[in-house]
Order: sequence, then structure tokens, then C-alpha cells
Amino acid sequence: MKRVLITGGAGFLGSHLCDRFIKEGYHVMAMDNLITGDVRNIEHLFHLPNFEFYHHDVSKYIHVPGELDYILHFASPASPIDYLKIPIQTLKVGSLGIHNCLGLARVKGARVLIASTSEVYGDPTVHPQTEEYWGNVNPVGPRGVYDEAKRFQEAMTMAYHTYHGLETRIVRIFNTYGPRMRLNDGRVLPAFIGQALRGEDLTVFGDGSQTRSFCYVDDLVEGIYRLLLSDHAYPVNVGNPSEITIKEFGEEIIKLTGTSQQLVFRDLPTDDPKQRQPDITKAKAILGWEPKVSREEGLRITYEYFKSLPEEELYKAAYHREFAKI
Ligand SMILES: NC(=O)c1ccc[n+]([C@@H]2O[C@H](COP(=O)([O-])OP(=O)(O)OC[C@H]3O[C@@H](n4cnc5c(N)ncnc54)[C@H](O)[C@@H]3O)[C@@H](O)[C@H]2O)c1
Repeated sequence: MKRVLITGGAGFLGSHLCDRFIKEGYHVMAMDNLITGDVRNIEHLFHLPNFEFYHHDVSKYIHVPGELDYILHFASPASPIDYLKIPIQTLKVGSLGIHNCLGLARVKGARVLIASTSEVYGDPTVHPQTEEYWGNVNPVGPRGVYDEAKRFQEAMTMAYHTYHGLETRIVRIFNTYGPRMRLNDGRVLPAFIGQALRGEDLTVFGDGSQTRSFCYVDDLVEGIYRLLLSDHAYPVNVGNPSEITIKEFGEEIIKLTGTSQQLVFRDLPTDDPKQRQPDITKAKAILGWEPKVSREEGLRITYEYFKSLPEEELYKAAYHREFAKI
């Protein structure tokens, strides 16, 4: 049985990866300090003999017993609301955290795949974004803690690959959504749906002409799984190229939820990227991958999930909304 360590395993993406690797017959070790994750995302796996959970901070020394074939480093605060609140931890998990994972991988002879992000492209001047584009990031802006941590993480991973000959993979993830996102994480999709469920107007930051491209989580997980098993060490974009303006997206959510509320417009936060669309030519050619789930279908599943949550989750969202404006 192959053995995989998934850091950030109790988070949104990490927990879906745990599910996928269990389904593929792996022994899965999830490691998480629960700073933004939730053990409820993985508690359905606790009874399995081939699942283990380590409650641990990846930025500190890490070790797991036994053999290890793969490490997937997904631990990191991932939404602006989180990394603005915990900027130092964000920088540490992207630097000390990846260093610890790479060190463990060397000891165990494991392959490492890291979760990078479209944020390495910053506010891009190239559209759509190809892997060759070096990005347009403000290192001292509020988003710099996340963007630069991820850029450092890529550089460190590549250094271990070239200097130590470690097997490494880098996935640049574009906006992904699906069940187990948190209503209060400040990302646009849960924010809109949360507002619709509370019967509030939907807040658009700026004039809504900025674009995003949303990928359903199952599609992303398939791309990551294929990349891990490929022999490609350089970064690969994985995301859905179907691009939409935030204003149009808000209108789609109004239609989906049947809310009688409307869009309201507020000031755009500092360094908010104006456009975001992955060029997935490489993922198609190298991994034979492209997204399969339409936005209509993915949003329907995600909305059903949010509707099924206890009502108190909606109030947590109300508490965090003020913070989103910082
Ligand atoms: N969701 C997206 O659209 C997206 C896009 C690009 C990149 N990513 C990357 O994917 C990864 C997962 O993102 P997510 O959306 O699932 O976010 P998430 O917040 O749901 O998950 C992150 C997990 O990492 C854990 N964590 C954070 N710091 C840790 C530490 N020091 N030690 C141990 N665990 C720690 C958190 O508790 C949480 O469970 C992140 O690395 C993120 O940067 C996500």
C-alpha cells in the first residue's frame, strides 16, 4: 500500500485529497494544526485503518513513522481574510513549512507536490496566464505575505529538485470551489452565497468588471492526482479557463439562490487582481487533463452543501464580513 502525507489535510482542498487517496487505496496521513481547517472535514475517515491524523504545525519540525511515497504540501492559510489575519504564520508555512516537508521527503525518499497558486502571477499583465509568465506582485502590499510565501515555496522546491535531485511537482491552483469551503472565509463565492442565505444584498468590491475563473474541486483533485503521478517537475496551471466578471457571477448567484436581494458596490481592496484566467495548454498536453464540471453543475452542488449547514455558520459569516474590508 502506497503511503501519502497530506499537510493541510483538514482544510477544504486537503480533505478532498484525503478522500481521493483513500479511494485510490493509499494509506493516508493528514497533518494539520487546524488554524483555518476543521476536523469535521475528515472525521468520516477516522474509523479507517489506512487513515491517520496528526494535529501538528508544519512550520515546526515534522516527522511521521514508516515509509513514505508522497508528500502533498497543502498547509497554508489560503483566503485573503485568513492571511491578512495571520500574516506571519502564512509566511512561515510557505517557507519553514516547505523546508520541513522537503527535508522529510529526502529522509524518506518521497516525492513532494506543493500547492502553489495563481497568486504567484499577482495582478497579471499577461492574459490568460501561462506558466512562463513571471508575475506582477507587490511584495510589501497586504497580499504580499501570501504571494511571496508561495513564490519562495516554488523556489525552495525547485532548489531541492536541482541540487538534491528530489522528485518534486508544482501545481499552480486557480480559484477552486466546492463543498467544505467556509462561509466565512472571505472568498467571493461563499461570501455571495452566505449573503443570499441571510437575505442580504450581495457585496461587489469595485465595479465588478474584474474577472475570475472558477474550478470545481473534483476537477482540481483529478488534475493534482495526475500531476503527482506524472514526471513533470515544472509548474503546471490547474484551473478552469471559463472566465466571468464578478458582476456577472453575482447575477448567477442571485439566479441560483432565488434571492430577491441585489448587488451593491463597495471600494476595491488594495492590489486586488483585475483579471484571472489560467492557460491550461500544459495541463492538457502533459496530463491529458481538462475540467469536466460546468459552473452551473458545480454551483448547484456547492449551494446544496451551504444550505445544509447549521444556521450558526451563517452568523459566523456575519462576524467576519467586517474584516474583509481591511
Ligand atoms: N482553494 C483555492 O482556490 C486555492 C487556490 C490556490 C491555492 N490554494 C492552496 O491550496 C492549499 C489549501 O487551500 P484551501 O483552500 O484548502 O484552504 P484551507 O484554509 O481550507 O486549508 C488549509 C489548511 O492548512 C492548515 N494549516 C495552515 N497552516 C498550517 C500549519 N502551519 N501547519 C499545519 N496545518 C496548517 C489549515 O488549518 C487548513 O486546514 C493552500 O496551500 C492554498 O494556498 C488554494
